[in-house]
Amino acid sequence: MDSLIASSQALATPSTTGYWCPESWRPTQVAAWLILILLLSPLTHAELRERNTKWLEPARSQLTQDKGSMPFFPHRANTPDNLLLRPQDFDDAQVCGACHTEIYRQWRTSMMAHSWEEPIYRALLRHASEATDGQVDNFCTGCHTPIGLTTGQITSAVNRASVEFTAQHNPMPGVDCETCHNISARTGLDNGAYVLSPRTNGKPTKFGPRQDAVSPYHDTLYSGLHTRSDFCATCHNVTHPFSSVAVERTYDEWLESPYSLSGATCQSCHMPGFAGQAAIMGPHREDVASHWFSGANAAVLEYLGQREAAQRARESLRRAAQIEFYDIPAQMVPGEQASVSIKVANVGAGHKLPTGFPEGREVWIDFRVIDGKGTELYRLGAVKDGATEQGTRNFKVHLGDKDGKELDIEVWNATQILSDNRILPKGYDIREFSFLVPADATGPVTLKATLNYWPFPQRLVDHLLGPKQLQVEITPMAEAETSVGLEPVPVIREARSLVAPSRF
Ligand code: HEC
Ligand code: HEC
Ligand code: HEC
Ligand code: HEC
Ligand code: HEC
Repeated sequence: MDSLIASSQALATPSTTGYWCPESWRPTQVAAWLILILLLSPLTHAELRERNTKWLEPARSQLTQDKGSMPFFPHRANTPDNLLLRPQDFDDAQVCGACHTEIYRQWRTSMMAHSWEEPIYRALLRHASEATDGQVDNFCTGCHTPIGLTTGQITSAVNRASVEFTAQHNPMPGVDCETCHNISARTGLDNGAYVLSPRTNGKPTKFGPRQDAVSPYHDTLYSGLHTRSDFCATCHNVTHPFSSVAVERTYDEWLESPYSLSGATCQSCHMPGFAGQAAIMGPHREDVASHWFSGANAAVLEYLGQREAAQRARESLRRAAQIEFYDIPAQMVPGEQASVSIKVANVGAGHKLPTGFPEGREVWIDFRVIDGKGTELYRLGAVKDGATEQGTRNFKVHLGDKDGKELDIEVWNATQILSDNRILPKGYDIREFSFLVPADATGPVTLKATLNYWPFPQRLVDHLLGPKQLQVEITPMAEAETSVGLEPVPVIREARSLVAPSRF
């Protein structure tokens, strides 16, 4: 334990990493040091390597004890020398937008641009902050407003204030240009394990994917990290800071999927290239990384007035899945049970379907049976009292507390995953339905299945924001329809049963 503290503290200081190399060093001094290091036994190398690996992927159990390496405990963000940054180290996104007009226009509409000021996050944050006596304040903010946290603007009072109040008194960016393009390294793969370095060599420096980008406003540095999925991992893997429950695992889901092997990254799907300019005075390029970051949250985007982005989210949901009837009877018999099975495939999402925020994200089959006269004979998957009805065939993760009780709000009490039946990337699942065909049904019978998504049940939103504040949109992802004839047999059977007694 002691050695871990010593090594991680040492690594956070400029002299041992060499990363924050003082500008005043002359080449001769550097050479002298290099020779000295080489002369020291190989043990030093091994030690350094060991320290480095420990620093890069520390064992969580040890790390949570080691507050020295986590200045924003329990969040994993680091800054150079682990010092607080200054708000003036960062520009407002609008400043970047003056030159990066197209990228700014796209990003501005995204959920990440609103991650600090959106109502669902803030409502849950207030509950979490109050219930834990402020223990999770740093944690939540480190991903939802990284600059707010690392410039020391976050207090429990700020976290618990209303969106309107902070918009006036504590305006802070969500996940903005400066957040992502000042990330110089990562120290792990979850809980915000990024290093935010707004000034490198004493000047504003932006880390990006190009080797040949030249800007009159800032230095640019090529960053391989920005071209890979592990860049997104820092925030898109959320681990409970105290119980270690894997709350969100979008990155891990991707890593374990065929997409990671074929080289399809988060960026390939969420930042596809467009032909145009990354900056107004920059060159024309064939594949400028787009910044729409389209996901799934049409409901909140619509609430925020981001209609175009909401529409993009709906389209992205429609690309993700396919639904089809897998096994249906050739004919159905009135008065008897019928069974139908439906196959749902995750064909477009590079992670589980759904992924992310576990208390809310839900995909389900709304299955209906309608007879020849248009009468609904059966339905499973309707919304009742603000939630999908009992027995709905859905795809969702369920978190539980230490007593095994399911949690839908108090995620901070999570100690276990009770169940997870979400669909793996490029995977599929088959679900069964059984229902009684009424004796007086008229054929043919139409079977309809709609695959739906919502970011959270209406009930959860009403609890967080109060009733009638936000209408949760149910987004249809895919549909299937087929019809089945009714067997004329029942009439014959009736006849038989009438005939039968006379035999005795
Ligand atoms: C005065 C205009 C101007 C402003 C203001 C400006 N940039 Fe740039 N930036 C450029 C130009 C020009 C390029 C090069 C574009 C190219 O080569 O395609 C560039 C490139 C970049 C790159 C790509 C670097 C790489 O290596 O791939 C990033 C990232 C970036 N800028 C971020 C920002 C951020 C963040 C801000 C706001 C703090 C900002 N820029 C403000 C002009 C500007
Ligand atoms: C600094 C933390 C951070 C980083 C780095 C980050 N994200 Fe996010 N991302 C967030 C947060 C926080 C949200 C949720 C915002 C909300 O709903 O309040 C989010 C939401 C999203 C969404 C959901 C949008 C929707 O409509 O449902 C997508 C897609 C996304 N991010 C993609 C990415 C990709 C791709 C990367 C890597 C290139 C990335 N993010 C890197 C923090 C981050
Ligand atoms: C093969 C394409 C593909 C890849 C690769 C991919 N995604 Fe997605 N992503 C999608 C699609 C399609 C959706 C919409 C369906 C859904 O919600 O899963 C989506 C949805 C999301 C959402 C919103 C989920 C929700 O319900 O709120 C987030 C966040 C996200 N992706 C982040 C990531 C991150 C981070 C990575 C990399 C680790 C990644 N994605 C890799 C296609 C992809
Ligand atoms: C969630 C993190 C994130 C946010 C927020 C973000 N970027 Fe980026 N940006 C990236 C990543 C990752 C890449 C590289 C994508 C790739 O190579 O596929 C990138 C690429 C770029 C590039 C180079 C584009 C190219 O292909 O030449 C510029 C310029 C840029 N971003 C500017 C901005 C500006 C300006 C903003 C704010 C309006 C912004 N970014 C917001 C993550 C982000
Ligand atoms: C490691 C980064 C990280 C931490 C820490 C984190 N979040 Fe998030 N949060 C995210 C990402 C990424 C998403 C988006 C996932 C998705 O789209 O499904 C998200 C989504 C959410 C959402 C859904 C918002 C919406 O509109 O759909 C809420 C609410 C939320 N987080 C609350 C919290 C609270 C409260 C905490 C602290 C207890 C917290 N988060 C801690 C990264 C983080």
